[in-house]
Amino acid sequence: MAVNSTVVLDPERVRKLTERESAMLDERTRGSAEMYRRARKSLSGGVASTYQARNPWPIYLTNGEGAVVFDVDGNRMWDFHNGFGSMVQGHGHPAIVKAVSERVALGTHFAATTEDGVVVAEELQRRWGLEQWRFVNSGSEATMDAIRIARGFTGRDTVMKIFGSYHGHHDAVMVSIGVPYDKIGDREDYASLPYGAGVPHAITEMTVAVPFNDAGAMERRIQRLEAEGRKPACVIMEAAMMNLGVVLPEPGYLEEVREITRRHGIVLIFDEVKTGLAIAAGGATERFGVKPDMVTLAKTLGGGLPSGAIGGSAEVMHVVEDGSVYQVGTYNGNPLTMAAARASLLEVLTPDAYRHLDALNERIVNGCQAVVDRYNLPGYAVGIASKGCVTFSPVPIVDYESFKANQDVAVTELAWLYNMNRGIFMTPGREEEWTLSVTHTDEAVDAYVEVFAEMARELTE
Ligand SMILES: Cc1ncc(COP(=O)(O)O)c(C=O)c1O
Repeated sequence: MAVNSTVVLDPERVRKLTERESAMLDERTRGSAEMYRRARKSLSGGVASTYQARNPWPIYLTNGEGAVVFDVDGNRMWDFHNGFGSMVQGHGHPAIVKAVSERVALGTHFAATTEDGVVVAEELQRRWGLEQWRFVNSGSEATMDAIRIARGFTGRDTVMKIFGSYHGHHDAVMVSIGVPYDKIGDREDYASLPYGAGVPHAITEMTVAVPFNDAGAMERRIQRLEAEGRKPACVIMEAAMMNLGVVLPEPGYLEEVREITRRHGIVLIFDEVKTGLAIAAGGATERFGVKPDMVTLAKTLGGGLPSGAIGGSAEVMHVVEDGSVYQVGTYNGNPLTMAAARASLLEVLTPDAYRHLDALNERIVNGCQAVVDRYNLPGYAVGIASKGCVTFSPVPIVDYESFKANQDVAVTELAWLYNMNRGIFMTPGREEEWTLSVTHTDEAVDAYVEVFAEMARELTE
């Protein structure tokens, strides 16, 4: 990861380009503006989720085909957003269309387990090497239930997480993310801060955050919590952070975390909602070679249908089997979702698929890094299999503090507008990254690099 900081970007030029690109996007998305005017009369903010909202209006889509999506204005775009990283299979993959179509006619919901669910659990067990699995319907449900299982297993309440990591929208994890830099506090003793209103103070206080890539700080905090009689039930973390762009673990960090949590008898949960099935067949667990006690999956698992899973060691998951922890849900293991997941695991996300994603990743990361180098931009390209981004920062981002202190928000936002105006559908938000699918091609990633090069030229020449 090379960082080059020879050019200081002119904020006035960034502002002017942003103004121009905003006006251009407004012009290209008149149909979305119209849809927004209608939608907001019944849908709060005109959208189904606040993460889909945008000023002055959201972009409404109609359909997708492979690596391409279309908006209501008929704009055709390469999809690098991919449903917030869920569609690694690409849109309308024939194997998934076939599996879901056949299943629809056979009944879509029984609240009884079907064979597809057993096959999916067997395949996840094989890929992750964790003995026992359960299903849910989203990433939030997965992390919520995993935390409850860890609490039930240990008999403790405190949850430890990484500062700045997003793990879904339930109270225990809506803590210490997205907060202003000056409110973080000392890294040895970070504050527990609610993410938005409505998160009870008492719950917020039960979640304690530590910096990423700093095993020493984690162990010291655990020791202090132990001394206070608040030893954590679990550490929940992404093995590679995917909600600050992409932040990879430094060599040895995950191994140390594994060792610390084992030594202190704390359940280690890898939240693989973003990484699982997206960066390797067996997710971050396989890619980095460190085995947690539990993992949470969602997004890519269902091939676009609402899905989620929790995997764990037989020892930890025993509290589910013996009935002491209720892991429940009407739609868990829904037949339609399981049919899609089975087809996805057995027919789409094959070893060849990961070889293809790795090759594409190399091409797009090298392409973007070459642009950074050519124009001496303060930033760097980083990626792993289907995930990656250009991080606009003069120094490498290793944790939330370095992200907040160094990321150039204005250029990040300009890059999004630039992409949207040139046929690249990207995740909005300064914390997001691209997701490639098995249907992406060299042509698709070259288009991304070309748009980035055009922006770099305009910013610097
Ligand atoms: C790492 C991680 N965990 C959990 C979640 C929550 O998943 P969902 O939005 O499906 O509830 C997300 C969502 O982006 C995520 O990135």
